[in-house]
Amino acid sequence: MKKLDGRIALVTGSSRGIGSSIATRFGEEGAHVIVNYRSSREDAERVVRSIVKRGGSAEILKADVSSEEEVRKMFESIREKHGRLDILVNNAGLADGSLWNLELENINVQTLMKVFSVDSFGTFLCSKYASLIMRKGAIVNVSSLPALVGDSDGIVYAFAKGSVLSLTRMLARYLAPKIRVNCMVLGSFRTSWVDWLTREQLKAYIEAIPLRRLGRPEEAASLALFLASDDSSFITGQSIVIDGGEAMR
Ligand SMILES: NC(=O)c1ccc[n+]([C@@H]2O[C@H](COP(=O)([O-])OP(=O)(O)OC[C@H]3O[C@@H](n4cnc5c(N)ncnc54)[C@H](OP(=O)(O)O)[C@@H]3O)[C@@H](O)[C@H]2O)c1
Repeated sequence: MKKLDGRIALVTGSSRGIGSSIATRFGEEGAHVIVNYRSSREDAERVVRSIVKRGGSAEILKADVSSEEEVRKMFESIREKHGRLDILVNNAGLADGSLWNLELENINVQTLMKVFSVDSFGTFLCSKYASLIMRKGAIVNVSSLPALVGDSDGIVYAFAKGSVLSLTRMLARYLAPKIRVNCMVLGSFRTSWVDWLTREQLKAYIEAIPLRRLGRPEEAASLALFLASDDSSFITGQSIVIDGGEAMR
């Protein structure tokens, strides 16, 4: 028996990076995986092909998680096709190097809205519409280490990801006992953002991590599987750090 046999799972932003690893892992564990993307159709198709090639089952649903109308339609189409949803992973996040390293004085509401609309409001919207079609199940949110410990480089991003920590606790209480809601707090993982870094910056990131390497997307997928499956059946409202020891005090 696989850990997610018979479950319907939606992973937002799973056309690449950590989301694609989570989708692939869920597929291997028996879930029917809905691969969501906003613009990278070919990447999303590749993820679906790879799940099917491994003997799993998957489909694609395009939606911008920052648009309430698109999110509403995405969940409506899941309800029409499957009648329910069992697992939601709110993974979609805006990776935009130009929003990094901003001086505080240059951050305005427009900049805040750009990031909040995806990372924060997107998580809210998908959770809201998912809760309407989930009879029981699990929501897994994705936050980031700076939301917990602070960071001077990515103020807007950490601010938005901080709201995901509080939303996790609020929804865990509101949706209990039907739906468990937990959050993964990710340290530095090897995905597209690494391309913005100089060799020196990358070296400094790695030196700050006691395990002396970046995380692998598959390692985040293992935690997502734990939080989505019955292995964590008595855990809700928690934010669990996975960071190679970076935040350890
Ligand atoms: N990598 C890290 O070290 C790290 C650390 C802490 C937290 N995180 C968080 O982990 C999550 C995944 O990160 P990643 O590094 O794997 O990111 P990534 O490689 O940049 O992938 C982002 C994914 O999100 C999708 N996406 C972006 N905006 C979207 C929208 N509005 N609606 C739907 N999908 C959207 C992208 O699809 P399209 O290309 O189709 O738009 C893509 O599939 C994010 O929430 C990120 O903030 C990552």
